[in-house]
Amino acid sequence: MATACGVDFGTSNSTVGWVQPGRPVMLPLEDGKVTLPSVVFFNADDDDVTFGRAALADYLAGYEGRLMRSLKSLLGTPLMDGQTEVAGRALSFRELLGQFIRELKRRGESAAGREFDAAVFGRPVHFVDDDPAADRLAQDTLAEIARAAGFRELAFQFEPIAAAFDYESQIDREELVLIADIGGGTSDFSLVRLAPSRMARRDRRDDILASAGVHIGGTDFDKYLSLVTVMPELGHGSELKNGSAVPSSYYFNLATWHTINQAYTRKMSAQLGELVRDAREPQKLLRLQNLIEDRAGHWLAMRVEETKIALSDQASVRLELDRLAPPLALDVERDCFVAAIGALVDTVGGSVARLLADAGVRSEQVDTVFFTGGSSGVAALRERIAATVPAARRVEGDRFGSIGAGLALDAVRQFG
Ligand SMILES: Nc1ncnc2c1ncn2[C@@H]1O[C@H](COP(=O)(O)OP(=O)(O)OP(=O)(O)O)[C@@H](O)[C@H]1O
Ligand SMILES: [Mg+2]
Repeated sequence: MATACGVDFGTSNSTVGWVQPGRPVMLPLEDGKVTLPSVVFFNADDDDVTFGRAALADYLAGYEGRLMRSLKSLLGTPLMDGQTEVAGRALSFRELLGQFIRELKRRGESAAGREFDAAVFGRPVHFVDDDPAADRLAQDTLAEIARAAGFRELAFQFEPIAAAFDYESQIDREELVLIADIGGGTSDFSLVRLAPSRMARRDRRDDILASAGVHIGGTDFDKYLSLVTVMPELGHGSELKNGSAVPSSYYFNLATWHTINQAYTRKMSAQLGELVRDAREPQKLLRLQNLIEDRAGHWLAMRVEETKIALSDQASVRLELDRLAPPLALDVERDCFVAAIGALVDTVGGSVARLLADAGVRSEQVDTVFFTGGSSGVAALRERIAATVPAARRVEGDRFGSIGAGLALDAVRQFG
C-alpha cells in the first residue's frame, strides 16, 4: 500500500486520496463523507476551533466567533499575512490555514489507519492571474504550511492534470482530452494525451500539451448573483439624501466569501449608523445594519450559494431571507444568474480558446472534453467550454472526487 497521499485543498472543499492495492480510494473525512468543506470556525465562547460542516453548523447555531471560508483565495495575496479579530483576540489567517491543513492530514490518517509523511498537493494552474511572483509566493506559503503540518516530502501537481490521471484510469484507448476543472476559486484546463499504455510512465511531460487557468470559479458566481439580487435590497446602488451614492465597499465585502469578515470592523459599524440616517431608502440600509450586527454575512452568502446551485436544476428559485430585518423573499431566475456571470463565462471561454491555439491543436483533433469540479454544474459554462471543441465527446466525471483520486495516483508515481 502507498505511503503517500494526495491532498486536494480546495477553495470550497478538500479531499485526501490514497492508493490501496492498485486503485485510488477517497478517505472519509467527516461523518463518512469524503469531502471536508474548507471551512474553519473559531468559537470565541469555548476558545475552540471546528472544521468543515461542523464549523458551518457552529456558526449557524449562533456561537460568538469567526467563520472563515475560501482561505485558499488568500494565498499569494497580502491578505494572507493579515488577521481577523474576535472577542479581543487576533487570529492570523496563516495560523488558521495551518490548523485546517493539520486537521485534513489528521483525519486522512485516522481514516487510513496509518501516517502519511509524503503528499502530492494539487494546485491551480494559476493561484494568482498574471503575476508569477505572487503565484510562486502562494505555492511557497502552502508548502511551508504543509511542512509545518508534518508532511516531510512534498510535491505539487496541477489540479487538471490530476483529474486527467483519474480519467485515464477509466479509458481503454488513446485519447486527446481537454480537461476542465471548474471549482470554487479557479477554472483550470489541460490538454493531455491519455492512454492506458502510458499510465505507468514516470515522466508525462510529453503527454501534457498545454495548461491554462483563470481565477474565476463558483465563489465569483455567488458574488455576482448576490450583487444583482440581494445586495440592492440592502441598499447597493441606492442614494443618500444629498444625491451621492451609498459606498459600494460594504456590498463587495459581503458578497465575496473571503472578505465577509471585513464588513464587521468597528469603523464600518460606526459609519453605518450615519448611513441609515442619511439614506433615501433607510429601510434597505437598516437591513444592512442589522445583518452586520447579527454577523450574518456568511449566512447570507450560503443562502445565495444554495440558490445558485438550485438554479442548475430549476429555471426559477424562491430565496427566503427570513433572518434579514425587515425580512425579504425574492424569486431568482436562471436567466438573471446567467446574465450576471456572462462576462466571467466569456473570460473562461476565451482562456480555453487560447489554450487550444497556443498548443497548436485544432478543435476537431480533441476526442473528449472531461468536466469536473462543482461549478461544472453550471450549464451555461459547460456549454461555452464544450463549444470550443464541438466534435468532442463530453464526459462528466466525479465532480468532487476526480482531483483527489488523480493526486493519489500521482503520489504513488512520485513517492512510491
Ligand atoms: N450543482 C451545482 N451547480 C453549480 N455550482 C455548484 C454545484 N454544486 C457545487 N457547486 C459549486 O461548486 C463550487 C465547489 O466546487 P469544488 O468543490 O470543485 O471547488 P474546490 O475544489 O473547493 O475549488 P478550487 O478547485 O477552485 O480551489 C462551489 O462554488 C459550489 O457552490
Ligand atoms: Mg478543486
